[in-house]
Parts: sequence; structure tokens; C-alpha cells
Amino acid sequence: ADTRGAEPPDTTDLDRLRSAAAGCHGCALYQDATQTVFGEGSKRAKVLVVGEQPGDKEDLAGEPFVGPAGKLLDRAFEEAGFDRKALYVTNAVKHFKFKRDERGKRRIHQKPGRTEVVACRPWLLAELRAVRPDLVLLLGATAAQSVLGTKFKLTAHRGEPVEAPEDVADLVPSAVATVHPSAILRAPDRDEAYAAFVQDLKAAHDLLK
Ligand code: URA
Repeated sequence: ADTRGAEPPDTTDLDRLRSAAAGCHGCALYQDATQTVFGEGSKRAKVLVVGEQPGDKEDLAGEPFVGPAGKLLDRAFEEAGFDRKALYVTNAVKHFKFKRDERGKRRIHQKPGRTEVVACRPWLLAELRAVRPDLVLLLGATAAQSVLGTKFKLTAHRGEPVEAPEDVADLVPSAVATVHPSAILRAPDRDEAYAAFVQDLKAAHDLLK
């Protein structure tokens, strides 16, 4: 397989990482996606936020969390007391995975598989190495399991401080996992799901004190 540029360069320079990631062929997703959506935010961010993968809007814009889930996330961050400038926002997988609907028009989100998560993980670790956050906030099971390992059970541990496995402990001094904002948009009781989400974010925010 053509896996050109699959390994991040050995640097903590986010601009260099970003341009290298733009050419990554570490899994097949680059073939159909518009572009790599690398993380965004300050190199000095205290909090690094990890989502699942870019969606349709993010794929086109080249920026994480600019679509409907991003709008919800912005609102929830503000309510929980997070300052946008204190955040670096990225995804576990940096290309949009989708299938076309029957008419071939709409692009429908597909959950990234283990192969893609594993292939992309070195880029996430490189971002962690560059930013060195005090807190890692994991949105959804894909992000949580990429960082904490596949045994991690989100439903059992959402909103609580969790310890990172030894191999990433130096990069993840503290971590909190919660649901993915897209899950709130799909929840039967949106208000309740949103309130629980904000509560988790507040618990994470309290760890910064
Ligand atoms: N969902 C994600 O996980 N990440 C994005 O960037 C947008 C939607």
C-alpha cells in the first residue's frame, strides 16, 4: 500500500506537523476526503480537546468543529467556563470518512474503524507533544479509546478524572472523557443530554483550578 508520509516528522512545531499531515497516506481515507483537517488552537493551550473525525463541513473548510456539532460545542464550552483561547482542538482521525447516499449527492458520516484510528494516532501524539496540555478532554468513545486504550468504557467513566495508560502518561497528565457533541444532536431528549454534557465539561474545567 502507498503509505507515504504516514509518520509525523520529529518536531514540536505545529506548522511543520500540519503541513506534513496534509500529505499523509497512512490510511485510505485521504483518497476520498477533500483535505487533512489538522488541529487548531494555541501551542500554549492548557486544554487539548479531541473529537472523532472531521464531518462534512470540516472536510470542506479544513478546520475542526465548524459544523453543527462544533456550534453546539462552542456554546457548551462557554457555559462551562472554558476560554476558547485556552483550547487546542483536534480529532482522533484527521480525514472525513463517509459514504454517498443512493443518489450520490449527500455524504454520510461513517464511524472510523480501528485501522484508521491506529494509523492516525501518531499525529495526535505529535500534537500532544507539541502542546503539552494540562488536561486532555476526550469527546466520544473513538477519541477516548485512541488515547486511553480500547478497554476504556466511556459510559462508566464519563465526566470523571481518568488516568492515562503508562505509554502516554507523560503526554496526558489529566484526562476527562465525555460524549461526542453529535450524540447530543441525535439524543431523544436533547435538553437532558446537553445538560449532562455541560456538567461533564464543568467537572473537567474544575480540574484546572
Ligand atoms: N465531529 C468531530 O468529531 N470532529 C469535528 O471536527 C467535527 C465533528
